[in-house]
Parts: sequence; C-alpha cells; structure tokens
Amino acid sequence: MYRIINANLEQTAVKKTQYPIDDMMEIAFAGRSNVGKSSLINFLTNRKKLARVSGSPGKTRVINFYRINDEFRIVDLPGYGYARVSKNEQEKWGNMIEGYLLERENLKIVALLVDIRHKPSAQDVQMYEYLKYYNLHGLVVATKLDKISRNDIIKNTKIIRETLGMDEEDLLIPVSVLKKLGIEELVSNIVNILGVR
Ligand code: GTP
Ligand code: MG
Repeated sequence: MYRIINANLEQTAVKKTQYPIDDMMEIAFAGRSNVGKSSLINFLTNRKKLARVSGSPGKTRVINFYRINDEFRIVDLPGYGYARVSKNEQEKWGNMIEGYLLERENLKIVALLVDIRHKPSAQDVQMYEYLKYYNLHGLVVATKLDKISRNDIIKNTKIIRETLGMDEEDLLIPVSVLKKLGIEELVSNIVNILGVR
C-alpha cells in the first residue's frame, strides 16, 4: 500500500505567478464549501492541522498546494456555493478556481467532492461538466459516509452518479474521515491515476 510519509504546505496562491513550479503531477480537490476537502487532506496526510478545517463554511479562501512525499501535490481549492459570501467574493473565487483549472499543465485530475447525503447541486453538476470538457474528470469522492445508513449507500451513490452524469468507468469513492472509511481505496486510486510508483 502506498504511504504518505511526508506532507507539507508548499505554497498558498491567489494567482498564477504564485503557483509553485510545475515540476510534479497534481490532483486538485474541488467541491462545495463545507463538503470536507480540507478534512480529507488532513486525514490523507495524517496531519491534524495541515489544512484549516471549520464548522463554518468558507474556510479555504486561497489555493493551497500540498507537497506529498516529494512525488506529487494535492491542491486544496476554495469551496464554492457558500451563500453568505458576497457575490463579488464568490466571483473572485470562481475566477481563481477557473484560472487554475484552465492553465495548470501538470494538473492531471480533479477529485470532485460531494456530500453523500445529498443530491449534487446545480453547481456540482456544472463543475463536473466543466471537468469533463477539460478532461480532468473521472474521480468523485462522496464524503461523510458515516452520516448515512448502510441501506442508503447504494441508493445515494446511484443518485450522485446519475445527477452528475458520470460515465460508467468514472470512479465514485465513498469516504469517512470520522470513521476512517474508504481512504486506502482513495489513496491507491490517486497514485494510480497520477502514475506515482
Ligand atoms: P471550505 O474550506 O469552506 O471549502 O470547506 P471544506 O470542504 O474544506 O470542509 P472542511 O474540511 O472544513 O469540513 C467542513 C466540516 O465537515 C467540518 O466540521 C468537518 O469536521 C466536517 N467533516 C469533514 N469530513 C467529515 C466526515 O467524514 N464525517 C463527518 N461526520 N464530518 C466531516
Ligand atoms: Mg477547506
């Protein structure tokens, strides 16, 4: 099993000139605010406070580049769809995310995180469409698996697949940071996709 031994916040950026040099493959985590992107990064890297987590949405307001084992990067993107952030601010974040997705040549794939309890929002659908268009799709992570019953897992993952218009070969991996579920499967798929070892 692939082990993440070393992880650090290499760079924080709001624009392209601040990105670290594109010398290694990147996977980005995208999704609605509060879906659990930063929590998942902390869990994957086994570092409780590497990424900032909060009960109140809108915690991550910049692009954070985490360097993993000196082999690849995980990029934490600001969450979208948080109503209490002003339109102007949301637009700024949107441009920041889009700028990164469009111009980053070493970006291999974007993991779209959705909450396993809910049908993906219109913005989630839009994001997945966008990822498909730029060929950055193929990995969806359904978070907070601990919050639903076993019976609902199949039903909810089916709804997520259908709503996002996922292809059959696209991966949908349910995870729980709280209960430590699905994480090995996620890590092994990430390193596989990135071609790390
Ligand atoms: P933004 O930075 O606003 O985009 O949010 P984010 O997607 O980074 O979410 P964050 O990791 O800050 O988590 C939001 C909330 O969800 C926190 O209160 C976490 O404790 C909670 N959370 C994250 N993962 C899980 C999980 O697997 N299970 C449960 N029950 N709660 C979780
Ligand atoms: Mg965050």
